Amino acid sequence: MAFENITVETRGNVGLIALNRPKAMNALCADLIAELGQALDAFEKDDAVGAIVLTGSDKAFAAGADIKEMASRGYMDVYVSNFITNGWEQITKCRKPIVAAVAGFALGGGCEVAMMCDFILAGDNARFGQPEITIGTIPGAGGTQRLTRAVGKSKAMEMCLTGRLMDAAEAERAGLVSRVVPVAELVDEAVKVATKIAGLSRPIVMLCKESVNAAFETMLAQGVTFERRLFHSTFSTEDQKEGMAAFVEKRPPAFKNR
Ligand code: CAA
Repeated sequence: MAFENITVETRGNVGLIALNRPKAMNALCADLIAELGQALDAFEKDDAVGAIVLTGSDKAFAAGADIKEMASRGYMDVYVSNFITNGWEQITKCRKPIVAAVAGFALGGGCEVAMMCDFILAGDNARFGQPEITIGTIPGAGGTQRLTRAVGKSKAMEMCLTGRLMDAAEAERAGLVSRVVPVAELVDEAVKVATKIAGLSRPIVMLCKESVNAAFETMLAQGVTFERRLFHSTFSTEDQKEGMAAFVEKRPPAFKNR
């Protein structure tokens, strides 16, 4: 597939997508989002790919939805076309794990896309923010919801109400990102983590992702029961038998993804 706004490659069993619209700080125009959706679909269907890394450039993961593209749009138009839905939501629907490798600016829709991924590894120059309020709108791709769940009400409210940016160290302290690494090592480190995941049992990885995500959709008791049932279901797989036998026999497991 030929893309104009992203680059796509595989590294071993990891699919690597890089947002690539340098002139606009990777602003998320409609064409970019459509291409991102297509690339994710292709990796989702590709049995050779076990996990995905989504990154940008050293300067910007993405500086938000494309302001120039949306500036003159009206309510009826954005409502009827369900703006910020198609393509965007593909990220959350993907069943394979997606690691966001974020360097530079992750603002507005860029921060929201990063938060739609399963976890965020940040380069030490990363800056996160929801500055929509400063251009007369509010986050529209889940920012008020996911940021609040990630960092709590006080910090999320301050960021959404003022547009203040958070640096990588603060993002790690607040729990928005899993780890901070030197920016020069970011993509390699993300691919390394994704490779580790891709080498594990695919069905068990999918069950695990589903179970962690349930924490955001349910009350605790319901979530724990859901997790327990998925845990029970792993005992119907060959990979659980193999994984535990390998531990007991002190050898590496040979998962068959069954
Ligand atoms: N949309 C369109 N173009 C953008 C853009 C965006 N979100 N962000 C940056 N660009 C463009 C700039 O217009 C500029 O283009 P020109 O060279 O043609 O003028 C180019 O990218 C480089 O940007 P700057 O000159 O502004 O670079 P800088 O280093 O001085 O600043 C920045 C970088 C702080 C990221 C600044 O560009 C900025 O504040 N961008 C907008 C951030 C923002 O408000 N994002 C929220 C968008 S709304 C949204 O995302 C809604 C939602 O929830 C879905």
